[in-house]
Amino acid sequence: MTTRYPLSIFKKLQTPFYYYDTEVLEEVLSSAKKAVDKYGFHLHYAIKANANDKILKYMVSHDMGADCVSGNEVLKAITTGFEPDKIAFAGVGKSDLEIETGINNNIFSFNVESIQEIEVINEIASKLGKTANIALRINPNVDAKTHHYITTGIEENKFGINFWELENVIQLMKQLPNVKLKGLHFHIGSQITDMSVFKGLCIRVNEIQRWFWDHRIIPEHINLGGGLGISYLKPDILPDFETFFSIFHNNLDLRPKQTVHFELGRALVAHCGTLISKVLYIKKGIKTNFAILDAGMTELIRPALYQSVHKIENITSQKEIIKYDVVGPICESSDCFGKAVDLNATSRGDLIAIRATGAYGEVMSSQYNLRTPAPSYYSDDL
Ligand code: LLP
Repeated sequence: MTTRYPLSIFKKLQTPFYYYDTEVLEEVLSSAKKAVDKYGFHLHYAIKANANDKILKYMVSHDMGADCVSGNEVLKAITTGFEPDKIAFAGVGKSDLEIETGINNNIFSFNVESIQEIEVINEIASKLGKTANIALRINPNVDAKTHHYITTGIEENKFGINFWELENVIQLMKQLPNVKLKGLHFHIGSQITDMSVFKGLCIRVNEIQRWFWDHRIIPEHINLGGGLGISYLKPDILPDFETFFSIFHNNLDLRPKQTVHFELGRALVAHCGTLISKVLYIKKGIKTNFAILDAGMTELIRPALYQSVHKIENITSQKEIIKYDVVGPICESSDCFGKAVDLNATSRGDLIAIRATGAYGEVMSSQYNLRTPAPSYYSDDL
């Protein structure tokens, strides 16, 4: 499904703003859910991708669990209606207060990232007179073949416990009565578009599982994290969840009763969101024309931070195609949404759509330069 823009309404709204097409969201979530249910897997929405109330409510209505990376995300998940026993909590630096929040709410699992964290969780749980469920986040040393800023599963990354530490971990856990080993967790990175990477992950997970079985430990759950990438240049093509989940179905070795969990963020919410901006000025450069927008890296930092490329469209002009460098108003040269972008010839006042920005867009915005936060609108409210 393609997002259709209500242009007459858009023309009356102050730009920039985020526009969420709830029909697209519904279609993506239904297809994800269908594929997950086919294989009997469990899906947790990675709240970090977009924490807007309305988006979260959609996830709850599709019966998803949550994947959180801060105490505030855990609290937000609970107040939105996610069931605590479907909340996973990851992060290399959980504070004592955040740990308490998770324990007091009896969450599904702390995905623990270091030996010291296990000790601290045990100590806090013991003080609270409780037992905390933990999953070991293991760094499988599998290259996600994505941007190095969003690669998390190779040994040089700060994430997870390395394989050679596991012997120490299980010895230690025997002495810690207030933590219970429930699962194994893996998350190797984000925006992974090479599907063979996920097959490689399965092979590695099977090896690691065998090590646990040899030690007479059968974890109740295996959590494969998130990472499914999307096609930013062809935003009308929705994610192929069936292929993604079938790779795990076909390649993971499981013991009876082991449950399989995923934490998808981007693939669930990227497509429904568009950043709508207005052309403020056209400026002739030496080699190029600049289209200067009223949105910048403050509303969408992905191009500046990861050199990511989003499809950019002029939604108010049908004129001939011309190349532009599409830039924002912020005082940084990295404030550029795209170089030599093909756009219908544009002029001051045209509306520009920056597509597939529902994930890691609005949620990563900032008020740098004292910018006014961009509002968000939903197709079914307009
Ligand atoms: N699970 C864990 C433990 C994670 O750290 C992440 C994302 C996810 C799940 C969800 O991954 P996804 O399915 O969305 O790929 N801001 C960056 C992406 C950072 C991802 C951080 N972790 C971007 O705009 O590309």
